[in-house]
Amino acid sequence: MKIKHLLAALVGGSVLMAGVASAQPFGGSADVAYAEQLWGAMGKAGLLGADGIMSTPYKGQHPHGAVLDTIETELKLGNNRGVLIVKRNYGGEGVSKNSVADDPAKYLKAVTVMYKRKGYDPATKDWFWAKYLADGSLDKNPKGMLLAGKVAKGAPQGCIACHTAAPGGDMVFNHDRYR
Ligand code: HEC
Repeated sequence: MKIKHLLAALVGGSVLMAGVASAQPFGGSADVAYAEQLWGAMGKAGLLGADGIMSTPYKGQHPHGAVLDTIETELKLGNNRGVLIVKRNYGGEGVSKNSVADDPAKYLKAVTVMYKRKGYDPATKDWFWAKYLADGSLDKNPKGMLLAGKVAKGAPQGCIACHTAAPGGDMVFNHDRYR
């Protein structure tokens, strides 16, 4: 009898956890799969790797890194054609605007991305958010959640929380072109 109760509790617990997992706003299997496709499409568009298209490195600020480079383009992924903003974060010993310009791959720490996905989430301007490490794997938050999708929607910290403060209401700091 007791064992039966224990089992019921265990099964109930894992059902509950599965429910929580599928309800999470980001880092679920569909978002992770989409992030992988996006990384593939970025590679095909010549945006990745040692010879990837980049801009002039500039001095960055928290949380994005010591030296950054940001480019904007349009990318097609499946049926979606949308704006893609790629911000590369560089760091490590000897990092400077010049050293990054000379050898970007050596200092690359992360690639943060905003991709306009029609109809994805109008409340957050249809941006798909992702943070990749230099090798293309997804970075995680302190709770171990993969950073892909509506990252930190409704949370006090993270991509959406912070970018909501960007002027112009388009969630982009750099300009207000997508209001
Ligand atoms: C604490 C605030 C903060 C958080 C958290 C944050 N960002 Fe940003 N982000 C900024 C600021 C400020 C800028 C503009 C300055 C710059 O270039 O660094 C920016 C710029 C960007 C840009 C270039 C477009 C723009 O808005 O100018 C991208 C892309 C980007 N962030 C992606 C992300 C992603 C993806 C995450 C989550 C993994 C994230 N950011 C988390 C503050 C933040």
